[in-house]
Amino acid sequence: MRINKYLAECGVASRRACDTLIREGKVLVNGKRANLGDDVSEKDMVVVNGTEVAHKLSHSYFLMNKPKGYVCTVKDDKDRKTVMELLPEGAGRVYPIGRLDYDTEGMLLFTDDGDLAFRLTHPKNEIPKTYLVRIEGVIGDNELNRLRSGVELDGKRTNKAKVKVIETDKKFTKLHVTINEGKNRQVRRMFECVGKQVDFLKRIRIGDLGLGSLPRGKVRKLTQDEIYYLMNL
Ligand code: URA
Repeated sequence: MRINKYLAECGVASRRACDTLIREGKVLVNGKRANLGDDVSEKDMVVVNGTEVAHKLSHSYFLMNKPKGYVCTVKDDKDRKTVMELLPEGAGRVYPIGRLDYDTEGMLLFTDDGDLAFRLTHPKNEIPKTYLVRIEGVIGDNELNRLRSGVELDGKRTNKAKVKVIETDKKFTKLHVTINEGKNRQVRRMFECVGKQVDFLKRIRIGDLGLGSLPRGKVRKLTQDEIYYLMNL
């Protein structure tokens, strides 16, 4: 594989930025200065700025539009359907990064890259996740501001949230809610705190990476740019 593509896939930088590193002589392959256009494989020792590049090529990364009615575990003790059943054959030993409730749908990532999964789920990294939320009836400014500034869950205040009404009539209100934590059933419980019941919940974005038009229940591979983006989030 071309060295710039290899470096980008290993999460070093974008392909173009890798070209610059190569031109500047900051990349060594098996101890020798690399040139643009060189080919490398996982057997080669590739060093960038004095640090050996971790091989990531053997990892897999998928994006699923999870339907409601599936649990995010590998095996369910109540014998409910699991998201693993929706993965394509040959997906390998991937597992979901984080969880969505049984009744929640939307964007769910899968990988066998433990480093990335750890980074994306570690609370200290505060990765923003955006949800489409539907509640019955209308919601007032007071409730919206309470959601935005944080409500008390499990004896602790939630972080600030972005909350935006996108559609409302007397029957339903739809909102976009962005939180950077992942407490159990957090969005549903935040709305319960302000006296509102969530009747539809869908994750539509992780960072700036969107679910797009992937149909419900379908899975696709992440592109190299998307993998690179997540590795640097
Ligand atoms: N918040 C929830 O309430 N449920 C989810 O599945 C994700 C976030």
